[in-house]
Amino acid sequence: MSAAALFDPLAELYERYAEINDEVYRPWLTAALDAAGPGARAADLGCGTGRFAGLLADRYDSVVAVDVSARELELARARHGRPGVTYERRSLLDVTPAADGRFDLVLSVNTIFHLRDHDRVLPHVRDLVAPGGRAVLVDIVSPAGPPAGPLRHRWYGVQDAARTLRRRRAPADAWLVLRIRQHPTWMLHAATNRPLSRERFHQAYGAAFPGAEFTDSLDPFVCALTWRRPG
Ligand SMILES: C[S@@+](CC[C@H](N)C(=O)[O-])C[C@H]1O[C@@H](n2cnc3c(N)ncnc32)[C@H](O)[C@@H]1O
Repeated sequence: MSAAALFDPLAELYERYAEINDEVYRPWLTAALDAAGPGARAADLGCGTGRFAGLLADRYDSVVAVDVSARELELARARHGRPGVTYERRSLLDVTPAADGRFDLVLSVNTIFHLRDHDRVLPHVRDLVAPGGRAVLVDIVSPAGPPAGPLRHRWYGVQDAARTLRRRRAPADAWLVLRIRQHPTWMLHAATNRPLSRERFHQAYGAAFPGAEFTDSLDPFVCALTWRRPG
């Protein structure tokens, strides 16, 4: 199935979902992202609707933000267009040191798990980081370990909505979370994605990014790390 078929139908709902969940990510990301010097370059791999473009543009002179979903990029350009930020429709696997150079910061949030092939993707991402530069990566983990069936995914959706209600006291937000997490396209993702367990995440990312610092406290379904490439 094409990327458009998998991601475009969720774009509008996902943008709202991302806003609702932003408070889970933004404080950690704001603390994790250093101020960068003049001419510094960042890449956002799987930028979605561009919610972190501003955070990057405040710190980096140029930002290359790539995604495979045309609809998400339309929303990103319309709502998070910033001087210095270039949105490009291409796979993160097509961002290469030969074509793009290396980056002082490589950011990727909740995207790598969609590609599933960690053995290929993690070294690829590492190779995009310039000497002395940093990777800041956040991704989905599966608390259940082995692949969960559709009923469990529906239940995770209910739990997510309940957490949202507790956190935000906003029934409309909890309702949106419930709707997107029961959406047929979300269920399609749930059936095919294979997020790593937290333990496997630490192993795989720790091997690819030696010395990375992990954060496990953002959300039961999320693991984050920062890593600096030796200069
Ligand atoms: C869960 S969304 C996260 C978007 C954004 N990082 C955020 O946190 O709001 C995952 C994104 O990965 C994108 N994506 C999936 N496979 C990709 C690939 N091979 N290269 C670039 N982006 C990809 C999807 O289109 C989608 O926008």
